Amino acid sequence: MSALADRPANPIVGDPAAHESARLHVTGAAMYTDDLATQHPGTLTAWPVQSTNAHAKVRVDVSGAYEVPGVVHVLTADDVPGVNDAGIKHDEPLFPSEAMFYGHALVWVLGETQEAARKGAEKVTVEYEPLPSLITVQDAVDAESFQGIARTVARGDAAAAMVEAAHVFEGVSEFGGQEHFYLETHAAFAIRDSEGQYFVQSSTQHPSEAQEITAHVLGITSSEVTVQSLRMGGAFGGKEMQSHGFAAIAALGAKVTGRPVRVRLNRTQDITMTGKRHPFHISWKVGVDENGYLQALETVLTCDGGWSLDLSEPVLGRALCHLDNSYWIPNVHAHGRIAKTNKTSNTAFRGFGGPQGIFLIEDILGRIAPQLGIDAIELRRKNFYQPGQSTPYGQLVKDADRLETIWGQLSDEADIERRKAEIAEFNRTSPHIKRGLAMTPIKFGISFNFAAFNQAGALVHVYKDGSVLINHGGTEMGQGLHTKMLQVAATALGLRLDQVRLAPTRTDKVPNTSATAASSGADLNGGAVKNACEQIRERMAKVAGRLLGVDERDVRFSGGFVAALGKDTRLPFAEVAEAAYLQRVQLFAAGYYRTEGLHWNPEIMQGSPFKYFAYGAAASEVEVDEFTGAYRVRRVDIVHDVGDSLSPMLDIGQIEGAYVQGLGWLTLEELRWDESDGPHRGRLQTQSASTYKLPSFSEMPEQFHVRLFENAREDGAVYGSKAVGEPPFMLPFSAREAIRQAVGEFGPKGHEVILGSPATPEAVFWAVQAAQQAGTTGDAPGASEDADRVLAGV
Ligand code: MTE
Ligand code: MOS
Repeated sequence: MSALADRPANPIVGDPAAHESARLHVTGAAMYTDDLATQHPGTLTAWPVQSTNAHAKVRVDVSGAYEVPGVVHVLTADDVPGVNDAGIKHDEPLFPSEAMFYGHALVWVLGETQEAARKGAEKVTVEYEPLPSLITVQDAVDAESFQGIARTVARGDAAAAMVEAAHVFEGVSEFGGQEHFYLETHAAFAIRDSEGQYFVQSSTQHPSEAQEITAHVLGITSSEVTVQSLRMGGAFGGKEMQSHGFAAIAALGAKVTGRPVRVRLNRTQDITMTGKRHPFHISWKVGVDENGYLQALETVLTCDGGWSLDLSEPVLGRALCHLDNSYWIPNVHAHGRIAKTNKTSNTAFRGFGGPQGIFLIEDILGRIAPQLGIDAIELRRKNFYQPGQSTPYGQLVKDADRLETIWGQLSDEADIERRKAEIAEFNRTSPHIKRGLAMTPIKFGISFNFAAFNQAGALVHVYKDGSVLINHGGTEMGQGLHTKMLQVAATALGLRLDQVRLAPTRTDKVPNTSATAASSGADLNGGAVKNACEQIRERMAKVAGRLLGVDERDVRFSGGFVAALGKDTRLPFAEVAEAAYLQRVQLFAAGYYRTEGLHWNPEIMQGSPFKYFAYGAAASEVEVDEFTGAYRVRRVDIVHDVGDSLSPMLDIGQIEGAYVQGLGWLTLEELRWDESDGPHRGRLQTQSASTYKLPSFSEMPEQFHVRLFENAREDGAVYGSKAVGEPPFMLPFSAREAIRQAVGEFGPKGHEVILGSPATPEAVFWAVQAAQQAGTTGDAPGASEDADRVLAGV
């Protein structure tokens, strides 16, 4: 059946529904993990003892804790009946004998109150036998400290094409990580029931994996552990894997004490214990022909994985598969490797390596455009993929013409030509404040690179009274997945939205689920919910056909009624449900979905790992102050492709939120670690909102126009929609490029502007100084020698 025929007459998908919990969110009534814990009397609180050394053998003496009134137990490696490990790669001891980073949790104190647990933790003594520590990526490279598998994406002969190229540029691109800063910090809560089964409520994107890890730690089977993820107060990738250890601690505490146990990190614990977006160090060399067409790219990407592997390999894989962004580069040799440092273990974060890959090519284009004497907007457009072309990893770029179409629409809507002239005039007459305007595109691949993750399940119940309850394997973190699933179910069963309800995500309802990640929550779970609903609808259609006196194929479900095609008679959905029950027709179904058509060979990094690409483009205008480096984002216009939107209001919210979060990464948020040889080497110095600058209302674009690309049906996904969660995170490269443009205005024409990342006012100030310097000396600050050195080592 084609997707079009599949769309019923009165679909609920496509309606601008409010988030299903909007009212609860704004009234404060929405429950989160720790709220559930407080409902259980007798719940113990777990408090970690954190390492104050970046790398050391540790000997922990917990006896002092027991002198504190209210301390019930101190969890140590001796308590673990199963495997003392919380990582999916088995490199994350839950109770380590070697502290691998400053802040590493060594043991956990269980107290009657949080106060007792905290005081108990203070009485635990740790003896450190220090080991050499690696804090920066450079430290790790110098020490040849790498982890996981290095990968290469290659096509054509980059070295030969480089020799032929009219222009060759080289350089280093470096950028920082990013703290997730979800509002709800990591939290878990566990109860052991009278039958010895464990119920764990975890703030997690991946309940099934939390279940598996908890079972391993406890030395029991998955069937003995149920994990629920009611909702998260934000996750952004930070609760895809990092949450598992906390679930295991809570469950282990429940096992040892027989009491409910809660873990809830405070902000400083969360930020010092859990991983962040991977920072990268990238060296590159690019060849361009005389007309400005990219010919070759040679590059080495080194990401900072932190102390353990976690998701660093797939994150690196996605970076390698996105460094082309929207551009055709015939010859590519891109090598990626993962540094091992004594810092938190870096992990998934919105875009999952995609932003890091795209950073590279956008940085290159922004740096070389003035040197080529080509307008940056034009340089980007002319290098767009054309229909029929493939990515360096061998996937055909389906719907490549959307890039050009979206670019054109955005240019018109944002009035680019007129504003470029206006800005040129403004800059001519304004010596100390300069403006810049830039456009950047995105192409983002949707699907998990790990094929097995591209499956999902659902469980749908129709009760005798016609009410509907759905369960699915996806988790809600604010992105609106549950709302979309309700819309899918209402559409598939021909009901009003208020006739469908949703139950919390639990592993005993839908097993073996994938993380809600890679933006594919709606595609995968939507496919499964729809499948379950269709099974029930088909069975009910038979019943209704008999009641209405028509063939089952002429039965239509719409607006809460079941009607016969071409007749006036219609029955309430509830009446058909009741009749079906009495006729002993099954009114519940398990749904299943798997994404077809994916091929991927990770060894050679070739194949078609993505079901489709999400496209978009943004135009950002900024204003930069010469004296302070401060800037304002004056106006942002976005055209973004979500296919036929399942839920337009939520999708626009995702686009706006992702833009601002990406803007934070690129321009504000700076993680600083103590790199000194002093006693706090390796300590994260930006441990709270007072030292870690997040975007807030004052950093919102002054004008913000978001438009969904129209007539965008994607035939491969549920009701013609496309994933939206991550792709728009990469739209604010346009703001970074606009800052670069504005900075360039302080110097002579044609010089390269190197911009630090994050482009904080401080970094922008130094870039302005460099631009002015280039004006006085006449030399453009050239590419670094570092690139040659690192590339030579490939
Ligand atoms: N939106 C909100 N409000 N909160 C979040 O934590 N996470 C993002 C994105 N949007 C997130 C969010 C990330 S990293 C992903 S992968 C997707 O949502 C996951 O949900 P989806 O697959 O349902 O889009
Ligand atoms: Mo999102 S980084 O895939 O959880």
